[in-house]
Amino acid sequence: MASSHTSLLLLFICITATHSCLSARANRTAPCVNHERTTLLGFQRSAHGSSMLSLWSGTNCCAWNGVTCDKMTGHIVGLNLKGLSEVPPSLLSFTHLTHLDLSSNDFRLNPIPEFIGALQGLTYLNISEARFGGPIPPHLGNLTSLQVLDMSHNTLTGQIPTAKLRLEHEQHNRVNGGLSRVRHE
Ligand SMILES: *[C@@H]1O[C@H](CO)[C@@H](O)[C@H](O)[C@H]1NC(C)=O
Ligand SMILES: *[C@@H]1O[C@H](CO)[C@@H](O)[C@H](O)[C@H]1NC(C)=O
Ligand SMILES: *[C@@H]1O[C@H](CO)[C@@H](O)[C@H](O)[C@H]1NC(C)=O
Repeated sequence: MASSHTSLLLLFICITATHSCLSARANRTAPCVNHERTTLLGFQRSAHGSSMLSLWSGTNCCAWNGVTCDKMTGHIVGLNLKGLSEVPPSLLSFTHLTHLDLSSNDFRLNPIPEFIGALQGLTYLNISEARFGGPIPPHLGNLTSLQVLDMSHNTLTGQIPTAKLRLEHEQHNRVNGGLSRVRHE
């Protein structure tokens, strides 16, 4: 009786151990990068009243809402940030960022910061309905990998620097809020 319990228990341990070994191997996703997590926590502190960012907790920032990491390296490649009142300059420390969604924020008619043009890896930038104001900085033209740019529903003036943007595969590129749709005030 006792011995059959023991062997059952052993069998159970073996099965669970093997299973967890296999799944760990199958899903070897790199953990969140520590200094990137620290930067995100800074965003969280400055975002007052954002339910989305206030839910961020735990060590694995890759699992946080709006955060996408590269599975192999753990570096943050995508951010969707809500509840900000200014664009944090420390975004520049996310050197692997390709996808940035700042739509539906209230930047209080401040201009689009020039440093966004230094996020060289961006392929997707959405600043729709973000209450940006003033002239569009020519620095956006430095985002030469950009494939999707949505600037709709802001109060921007001037021209989107499309001449410098490499929009060569027309069907893959969407410039929303292009000149005809940018509101001039
Ligand atoms: C690996 O991760 C996926 C999705 O994150 C999950 O559905 C799946 O159960 C995991 N696989 C294993 C073998 O644990
Ligand atoms: C940009 O964000 C807005 C609001 O979240 C969304 O409706 C829109 O589809 C997005 N644009 C693109 C090109 O993904
Ligand atoms: C980005 O563009 C601006 C204006 O077009 C230019 O002055 C600046 O030197 C560029 N910066 C980089 C890093 O290329």
